[in-house]
Amino acid sequence: MNAITLLKNDHKTVEDLFQRFEKLGPRAHKTKQDVVERIIRELSVHAAIEEMFFYPAVRQVVEEGDVGDMVLESLEEHHIVKWVLSELDGMNPEHERFDAKVTVLMENVRHHVEDEEQDLFPKVNRLLGKGRLDELGDAMARAKKTVPTHPHPRSPDEPPGNLVAGAGAALVDKALDAGRKLVRQKTPTRSRPKAGSRP
Ligand SMILES: [Fe+2]
Ligand SMILES: [Fe+2]
Repeated sequence: MNAITLLKNDHKTVEDLFQRFEKLGPRAHKTKQDVVERIIRELSVHAAIEEMFFYPAVRQVVEEGDVGDMVLESLEEHHIVKWVLSELDGMNPEHERFDAKVTVLMENVRHHVEDEEQDLFPKVNRLLGKGRLDELGDAMARAKKTVPTHPHPRSPDEPPGNLVAGAGAALVDKALDAGRKLVRQKTPTRSRPKAGSRP
């Protein structure tokens, strides 16, 4: 699959989740938490494959100028988004700051997606060409199964650091996901974790 098509599909999935969140009423705490958990997962995986494959492939071809600057800016935008995601991860949806954090997250992600789709992707499309983009897309589709599913804002975001740290983080994330699933299966009424903490 073409890398840009794959990334745009991800953007669409996340935007659909944002719109779902925006339609929920103020008391729909459980559904809000479920939607936010999906957003965290989708964005963590998406950021990881862009940082492991897409951005490095672009920087390999052009490191300076417009496109190089755009990639560097993208990494900084990912960094900010990951911090907000890490605060939302495990946060009590009834916390008075929960909705505000999601709103700021959505503003940041929408701005970033617009920059990618309007400016970066058309330029990369011309720079890399169809063959390379297809290759990258296939690699990213495969990697989706093994990359981290939670945000790690303190971890390296460029190769080779992210390739090494990402493998360990993905294992920790899998254990965290399995643990949460188990807790939910055993708890008849859903436990509400404290703000900012992971269960
Ligand atoms: Fe991005
Ligand atoms: Fe993206």
